[in-house]
Amino acid sequence: MNRLFEIQVKLLNKINTCEDNSSRDHSLDWERIHLVSCAKVGELLALKRGENAELAAIACSIHDYGRILSGKQNNHAEEGYGPAKEFLAETGYFNEEETEMLSQAVRNHSSKEKVGTWLEEIVKDADVLDCYQYGLPLEREEQRKRLSFIVKELVG
Ligand SMILES: [Fe+2]
Repeated sequence: MNRLFEIQVKLLNKINTCEDNSSRDHSLDWERIHLVSCAKVGELLALKRGENAELAAIACSIHDYGRILSGKQNNHAEEGYGPAKEFLAETGYFNEEETEMLSQAVRNHSSKEKVGTWLEEIVKDADVLDCYQYGLPLEREEQRKRLSFIVKELVG
């Protein structure tokens, strides 16, 4: 079983059950693209940093779960913690430690100004780089700071 593939399929299936309407802060198409693309960026960052690439890609896949459910950007990280934990536990693919690590990365990924666990840092960095890649504005100073560090790290 490839856990990354299985999780992404489950997330895409979940997105298919959400209603796409103009009150969402991001379209469901963006949620689909971002979860897959962010996972790829996160995997590369983990390989570069000598961390667990599978867990990194899975954390990146699920990091916006709160917004997928609510459609709202505001507090989506904190509000995603409980539902993401439940989603991950229900799959039966993860032990308790992994489930908690992944859920904490969901909870803390919006705090781009803080330095967290290796997994949280990968999610934050991959999120910023992926948004930049698709032309989303990086409005906060801490996002732009991260972007310049990641570009230096990856490209030199
Ligand atoms: Fe994101």
